[in-house]
Amino acid sequence: MHTKIKELLQFGTVDAKVEIKGWIRTKRINKQVVFLTINDGSCQQNLQVVMTPSELPKTLLNQLITGASVAVSGSLVASKGTKQSVEVHGHHLTLLGNAPDYPLQPKAHSLECLRTWVHLRFRTNTFGAVFRIRHAISYAIHHFFHERGFFYLHTPIITAADAEGSGALFRVTSLDAPPTHPDGNVDPREDFFNQPTHLTVSGQLAAEAAAMGLGAVYTFGPTFRAENSNTSRHLAEFWMVEPEVAFNNLDDTIVLAEALLKFLLDYVLKNCPAELDFLNQRLLNDRNEQDSTEPMPLLERLPFVLAHPFARITYTEALAILMDAEPNKKGKFVYPITGWGMDLQSEHERYLVEHHFKRPVVVTDYPKEIKAFYMRQNNDGQTVAAMDVLFPGIGEIIGGSQREERMDYLKAVVQRTYIQNLNWYLDTRRFGTIPHSGFGLGLDRFVLFVTGMENIRDVIPFPRTPGHVPC
Ligand code: 4AD
Ligand code: MG
Repeated sequence: MHTKIKELLQFGTVDAKVEIKGWIRTKRINKQVVFLTINDGSCQQNLQVVMTPSELPKTLLNQLITGASVAVSGSLVASKGTKQSVEVHGHHLTLLGNAPDYPLQPKAHSLECLRTWVHLRFRTNTFGAVFRIRHAISYAIHHFFHERGFFYLHTPIITAADAEGSGALFRVTSLDAPPTHPDGNVDPREDFFNQPTHLTVSGQLAAEAAAMGLGAVYTFGPTFRAENSNTSRHLAEFWMVEPEVAFNNLDDTIVLAEALLKFLLDYVLKNCPAELDFLNQRLLNDRNEQDSTEPMPLLERLPFVLAHPFARITYTEALAILMDAEPNKKGKFVYPITGWGMDLQSEHERYLVEHHFKRPVVVTDYPKEIKAFYMRQNNDGQTVAAMDVLFPGIGEIIGGSQREERMDYLKAVVQRTYIQNLNWYLDTRRFGTIPHSGFGLGLDRFVLFVTGMENIRDVIPFPRTPGHVPC
């Protein structure tokens, strides 16, 4: 039985007989010794294996190159080197898989270049760190909700309702060429589900129905949007966590959102120190000390966000701040602030967070015209009980609201916006309606923040973006 490198580094006893399996990161060789650094993905650190070249056949020695996989048995010894506390003195080595022409050499490849090898980039230090952190966050999400009595709900991926009413949908069909009416329109009755269906843009509507029986639920899964947004913050397939809570109002949901984000930050700081150290150093190496707009180093940024309460303002207040902001007055915003009712762009969100408040900001009470149909109308008749959480370097990381629980209000919006297939949803208001609230956290955007990576394509294993499905 082989042992994971993580376990050897934590619990290994010197002189113990061990077997490790992994991939060669580097090889150094001289007449007396071969040094191999091996990584098996269990942790950030490599393990150094030391062997005598004369013990290895020449052909085997030539095959020990970066990317090849090996099994090594030997004994764990205290290391003479300064980089590691222990190393393995190998007695026996088996080559598991050769790697001629392996493209990832032990030098820094650009992230753009690694995006052309998404299937191999898991074997680099950077992506090892990112995906171990992504796992830790996902695990902590379940932990957070379970501890608070929420039930994990699997909401469907194929749906008939457009939850956000935005129309950015991927159609689902089993037909090669959908039959058309004489007028040229597609006839969905002949398709698999006898009606138009698509990939879900949000599990919220299903979660609302469940919250009205189970009290507090969360859904956590892949979400699909056919927006043609080729930005560093948008994916066509991304992961969203959506809690939905019966009897919660807008304030309660803001408190829940802040508690979740801080719990996750704290979890990663405590459980992924080696990964964070590596990513922090990576950013420091790229840092331009002359540039005063450089953000705080990662290892200062995360504790800073954890330690400070999020700022809270209304949309109307946000707009007044932005109207008065230097970049607006000097014409530096790509989208100038034109007046009340306009949607906030990520440059505006980032101005509020990075320049004005210098910490995460929760913006509430947006104009109803720019928000989804299900948000609860405020007494002013103009705004809805919405909230967006804005993060440094990212902009919007969470979108949520109190839901419209009043049947007459909801029906009026549904009719006005022509949203189809919502009869079942209206039933939740017909029978025992209640105030309730929830939000959606974009997992990928949160991983972006925690890892300090700059492009969302670098925090999801296999990114899907307009015109691009690498594998
Ligand atoms: O603000 P959004 O559209 O809200 C909803 O979908 C609600 N149904 C959530 C709810 O109340 N249950 O999306 C929520 C979050 C955004 O704040 C953002 O972090 C992320 O999902 N998001 C995306 N992430 C990556 N790529 C995209 N194309 C995204 N669109 C939204
Ligand atoms: Mg939103």
